[in-house]
Amino acid sequence: MKRPAFRVFLNLLFALTIVIPCCVAASAQSAPAPNPQLASKELNARVEALLKQMTLDEKIGQLVQYSAGFATGPGASNLHYDELVTKGQLGSMLNVTGVEATNHYQHIAMEKSRLHIPILFGLDVIHGHRTTFPVPLALAASWDPSAAETVARVGATEARADGIAWVFSPMVDIARDPRWGRIIESSGEDPYLGSAMARAWVKGYQQDDLSKPDSAAVSVKHFAAYGGAIAGRDYNAVDMGEITLRQVYLEPYRAAVEAGAATMMSSFNSINGVPATANPFTLNQILRKEWGFDGFVVSDWGAVSELINHSIGDGPTVARKALEAGVEMDMEGNLYGTVLAGQVRSGKIHESVVDEAVRRVLRVKFALGLFDHPYAPESPAYDATPERRAVARKVAGETLVLLKNDPVEGLGDLLPLTAKAKKVALIGPLADNQREMLGAWAVKGDPKYVVTLKTALAERLGNRLLYAPGCEMLSGEDANVLKQVSFGGADSAHASLPLPDDAKTIVEAVETARKADVTILALGESADWMEGEASSRATLGFTGAQEQLLEAVVATGKPVILVVLAGRPLELKWAANHVPAILEAWSPGVEAGHAVADVLFGDVNPSGKLPASLPRAVGQEPLYYAQLPTGRPAHGDLSRLPRNAGEKFMSRYMDEENSALFPFGWGLSYTRFRYDQPAISRAEVPVSEVLASGHKPVATVGVDVKNTGKVAGTEVVQLYIRNTSASVEQPVRELKGFARVSLAPGETKHLDFPLGFDELNFYNVEIQRTIEPTTYKIWVGGSSLATAETSLKVVE
Ligand code: BGC
Repeated sequence: MKRPAFRVFLNLLFALTIVIPCCVAASAQSAPAPNPQLASKELNARVEALLKQMTLDEKIGQLVQYSAGFATGPGASNLHYDELVTKGQLGSMLNVTGVEATNHYQHIAMEKSRLHIPILFGLDVIHGHRTTFPVPLALAASWDPSAAETVARVGATEARADGIAWVFSPMVDIARDPRWGRIIESSGEDPYLGSAMARAWVKGYQQDDLSKPDSAAVSVKHFAAYGGAIAGRDYNAVDMGEITLRQVYLEPYRAAVEAGAATMMSSFNSINGVPATANPFTLNQILRKEWGFDGFVVSDWGAVSELINHSIGDGPTVARKALEAGVEMDMEGNLYGTVLAGQVRSGKIHESVVDEAVRRVLRVKFALGLFDHPYAPESPAYDATPERRAVARKVAGETLVLLKNDPVEGLGDLLPLTAKAKKVALIGPLADNQREMLGAWAVKGDPKYVVTLKTALAERLGNRLLYAPGCEMLSGEDANVLKQVSFGGADSAHASLPLPDDAKTIVEAVETARKADVTILALGESADWMEGEASSRATLGFTGAQEQLLEAVVATGKPVILVVLAGRPLELKWAANHVPAILEAWSPGVEAGHAVADVLFGDVNPSGKLPASLPRAVGQEPLYYAQLPTGRPAHGDLSRLPRNAGEKFMSRYMDEENSALFPFGWGLSYTRFRYDQPAISRAEVPVSEVLASGHKPVATVGVDVKNTGKVAGTEVVQLYIRNTSASVEQPVRELKGFARVSLAPGETKHLDFPLGFDELNFYNVEIQRTIEPTTYKIWVGGSSLATAETSLKVVE
């Protein structure tokens, strides 16, 4: 279906993504910035008028949400939804999608229920809806918030056309441990990058105006600190000091709230012993009192009833604790709908607590315009239009990270591929797998629209392309485990996993590689089986026989390009030592093959940078660049010296280096960039001036960046600081500015990064954000290893 207005809009987004999106803008201090729509007097007058007419049961109905479609958690209720909606006892549904299904329930709500309150339909729209874009971790690798905004915009537009006005996105959890499968849904390890992406996601979905017919309310998740799960095991407890909680983990949620986020989702984990879904400190004190949040909080799937497992009470008690802490809606929990009324009638919960919760839910429904326009438009749903595919291809191109590109005899730099490579072999279980390219969480992404790498390379190379799958994604042992945890029972795809005959297929792959000048290996991790929720891993290698395949193909002596397709940082140590070129391609979405081929052939010069450190060994996890200092630093700030340097009694491993294999911010290009010495606009600044500066800069760091190579390229220029003397120890480096800058060959551009309170503050032991006299070291460069240095002194 042609939609001219949408096309104009997409063109605009295209334009936006080529303008340098300088993300050095400050995040706000702690002034509450409620979403003006949710705070509007007229809207709240409508809420109050309606609230007055509601019975207790109808009020509680607004706090209940059930999944009436597929399940995205354990078990799913199978209730008489029509009846509940008619009685006004079901205010929200999830996993019901499409015009027909959503309108079915909405007609009942609007025509048969006493007060005609529309249902709010929610869904996991994570990285696009029908058009599947790269996974969020990949989008963070673009370091281009406008790319996330574009993805959110397309996702919201497509979701609204499917009757969904509420998306369970963005996930803004800081993820510093790739054993945790949900790192794929995150923006990685860094709060500054994570906050920039969080703001962009919210803007893209909500457009600063929830009432637009193509806006969707966000649900920022999972509040709070879900990514800090001990040992990277999903749903596990989180135990961390308040300074780290606030300075690192809470920052992206705060950014999202300040950007106007309409709803939040409470998380499954406990935080320092108090479950996040009944945590008055995070939900009430921080979210509402400090940040001024006017929207509502929905629990994660079943998280209210799971409070019983957290051992904080029986059903009625945990329902009361969750509601009183500030969880307004019970997702698939079966508790608010069954026990809250009794708690109110017996005087255990004051009805005003229920009223306040209902207000918050109704506010969002009014702000979305659902009372006036409750139905999904009767237009056919659209799948992956050419216009959106073009956007998906462009965005995916920005997310690929060139980890390594060493010259090879006779061919020079292995990438980009040139005509010198006459025959090209494509090998690997991810070379031609449509489903896997969509990532772990593409509810409505249809694999049949996916262009695989094999298809894309065949378009370019014709019969110069040779192909062999090499092996299966999983070993027989993996397959057996997965059958046990299978979602869909005996009929599910898990149950029919092919039992591999890897020994035979690896021999075939080696023969294929021998016939070619260059081999592209497409290896990684199964998004379908190994990534996303409930997919923690204790190892981080390639799954199944892929490592054997890699080693066997490298043993042919033919040059190998490794394309890694995975939703988490994998352990690539052997590959990094033996393979000349490595491209991290994540799960690239519907245009996977085209986007990867664009980079392999140099039509797109890679510009992605790692949003999370790649480890040498899983035992280093959680591994992140912004570590706190120790009294016995092993090898300087970033521990880059080899492990045999230095002495024994240092903070180090005996059997491995401390540093990342590929660090945060790392990513190569087909050209080279030169950084001049950065210059600070002033050498000193008084503490009082920084404290009074609000969001305004007190100094700027200027730097010239030159493209010294022969082709045009885009560099992500990164600014890091270190506070060298504070009352609370500060990380050895922290990202505090970045900008994507495109440079023609020989071109130089000047960039200015502002520094002010927002960039320089930290939490003291009184949990106040503050500034103290100190010297900030400042580095600017193309990764967290940046060496071009200046400094700023903050004086009494
Ligand atoms: C996940 C959430 C998701 C919800 C609804 C839960 O299991 O943790 O991220 O939004 O299900 O599908």
